[in-house]
Amino acid sequence: MQLQGAFAILSVLAVTSAAPLQKRCGEIPKPLNPPAPGPIVPSNNSLVYNLPSTGGATSLPSPDTPLKHIVVGHGIQNYTCPAAGEAGVSAGALAVLHDITDLYPSASLRALSGDAWSGLTSKVLRTTQLPINIETAATAPWPAPADLTVEGIATPLAYMGHHYFDINGTPTFSLHDDAELLKAKKLSNISAPASADQGLTDEGAVDWLLLADKGGSVGLKSVYRVLTSGGNPAICGSEGETQSVPYTAMYWLY
Ligand SMILES: *[C@@H]1O[C@H](CO)[C@@H](O)[C@H](O)[C@H]1NC(C)=O
Ligand SMILES: *[C@@H]1O[C@H](CO)[C@@H](O)[C@H](O)[C@H]1NC(C)=O
Repeated sequence: MQLQGAFAILSVLAVTSAAPLQKRCGEIPKPLNPPAPGPIVPSNNSLVYNLPSTGGATSLPSPDTPLKHIVVGHGIQNYTCPAAGEAGVSAGALAVLHDITDLYPSASLRALSGDAWSGLTSKVLRTTQLPINIETAATAPWPAPADLTVEGIATPLAYMGHHYFDINGTPTFSLHDDAELLKAKKLSNISAPASADQGLTDEGAVDWLLLADKGGSVGLKSVYRVLTSGGNPAICGSEGETQSVPYTAMYWLY
């Protein structure tokens, strides 16, 4: 991962500087307030959390264990290029995760409307800063943990943890410093709907996925990646080129 070309870094900086930066003036830092791990208990007891669906002909298999958390992830999808003119091949991802469980429509007093919920990943992609230190992404990608202020949402979203690929290339979700941990393998994927946010460089939204425990997880069994915004690779300019494409997604953790 030390061989990442200047091209990818420049292209990420170009797209991120085109996006409006999050306004932080005058904001009082909020203490991090991790909720206790465990199944979520909505304040509205009869509430059913319905996993988003693409409305397309295919769908991901239904969840069969209790929902633990819903988070929004914001970061980069990495790709390497096999040859000029071909699409990049996935080479890992890095994202920071923030809790949005109680923003689910009707889940709490601060819940979002259905439209605001469906549009949340696009809003986070386009109105908040990419939370990855791109210049040092290979060794020190993460900024200091911080809650996330999103325009139009009264309370900042609580910081939860990170998504990354570990040294063995295993997609990993770490919540609260590994208090909950998912070491995952991909079980299923479907295309994002045509209505998805195509991303800052307009390359398209990454697939919706179901990943499940491959052994070594703590307190988590599976995760769905849904309501993706951006993240697809560009057509490669040259062999060996690398790309880091900004994306956001909702992750439903079971
Ligand atoms: C992703 O790409 C960045 C460069 O943009 C690189 O520093 C980092 O190591 C890569 N991470 C992974 C997991 O591929
Ligand atoms: C699932 O992912 C594979 C590999 O990226 C891709 O070739 C295939 O088209 C995807 N399937 C669907 C239904 O999108």
